[in-house]
Amino acid sequence: MQSVQTVQATVPKTTRSDLGSDSSHSLSLSQVMHQFGSFVALKDINLDIRPGEFVSLLGPSGCGKTTLLRIISGFLTPTAGSVLIDGMSVKGLSPSQRGTGIVFQNYALFPHMSVWDNVAYGLRAAGNRSRSQIANRVGEMLNMVQLNPLAKRVPSELSGGQQQRVALARALAVEPRIMLLDEPFSALDKSLRLDMQIEIRRILSEQDITAIMVTHDQEEAMSMSDRIAVLSSGTIHQFDTPTNLYDQPATNFVSSFVGTCNHLPAEVLGRAEGGYQLSVPGGELMITSDRPLSRREKITLAVRPENLQVQSQRDRTPPVTVTGTVTMCLPLGSLLTYDVRLTDDCHVKITQTRAMGTQALKSGDLVHLALVDPQACVVFPA
Ligand SMILES: Nc1ncnc2c1ncn2[C@@H]1O[C@H](COP(=O)(O)OP(=O)(O)OP(=O)(O)O)[C@@H](O)[C@H]1O
Ligand SMILES: [Mg+2]
Repeated sequence: MQSVQTVQATVPKTTRSDLGSDSSHSLSLSQVMHQFGSFVALKDINLDIRPGEFVSLLGPSGCGKTTLLRIISGFLTPTAGSVLIDGMSVKGLSPSQRGTGIVFQNYALFPHMSVWDNVAYGLRAAGNRSRSQIANRVGEMLNMVQLNPLAKRVPSELSGGQQQRVALARALAVEPRIMLLDEPFSALDKSLRLDMQIEIRRILSEQDITAIMVTHDQEEAMSMSDRIAVLSSGTIHQFDTPTNLYDQPATNFVSSFVGTCNHLPAEVLGRAEGGYQLSVPGGELMITSDRPLSRREKITLAVRPENLQVQSQRDRTPPVTVTGTVTMCLPLGSLLTYDVRLTDDCHVKITQTRAMGTQALKSGDLVHLALVDPQACVVFPA
């Protein structure tokens, strides 16, 4: 109880301008679990988010992202476990007492209020700013989301994307300690989305606000986040930097959810040259593995498309190549992606960068593939 009171005393009426750059806030979740009736929506969630960090919760629909955000914000009490801000439990505190600002997935604007009043709402409720300070801040926020010309409209007179921008402006206006964003860019078209992503990231890092964004868009998560928590069916599979998630996925699920990945059924033939020789559909590959492998062990080899390269006749290093037939070429700007059939039921994707004059492979071409490096793969149990 002591700790709760301490948090409450420091939260509500501090304005960002009073706070230095060392005043951003950490957030921890400890053994959080949530059940809706008998359905377990979240299990054993542990997360330590550093002050000022931008973290994304990434996962497929229904995996528990919004539920977790509602628990952090204080709109939902977890069945078990605790939420700590700056190391202190915030159990029993309302969202405003926690100092969390939230942009809901469905915007949740006040329907009877104008855009201007929606953005001003939290500032007025805080009661610590003069009218002109409020007017300035609202103007600044509306400018940021490019909605000044629509300030007098009510939400029903706005498009979905415009409503989403009002929700963003409203949450940011009060300079929250922790900003929670639930799919904040989903209704925006591509160019506005990119502008908003850059702008939000800039504002949050300038003001050193700790932020947690829910998204199912992996590119958005990868480009905006310091770290990403990948969720599936209510559990966190991995909490790591975008690069580590991509290069060292902890589970099969992460490897396929983050980026494109080939999964090859493989059998260990034995040790070779400091690594292991594997039998895979279409041939053999040489890999290294942090985990010791035993002869005859069956594994799944996860390989990114850019980590498979086509070997020319000259570079061929039999027997550690796989042979396949190109079935399709997808040119994508500077990249060429090929679908290669290794066996009837095993195809792989490979990508190559396309320079001026690159001769693209054609459907029907026979190719020999090898890993760009024996380390450029991850081993999972079969
Ligand atoms: N109030 C509720 N009562 C019962 N089940 C619920 C309730 N709210 C959510 N759920 C269930 O909990 C699971 C997680 O829901 P949640 O809204 O957190 O998913 P999500 O990851 O945000 O999905 P989306 O990407 O579709 O928004 C889902 O299976 C959902 O049906
Ligand atoms: Mg959701």
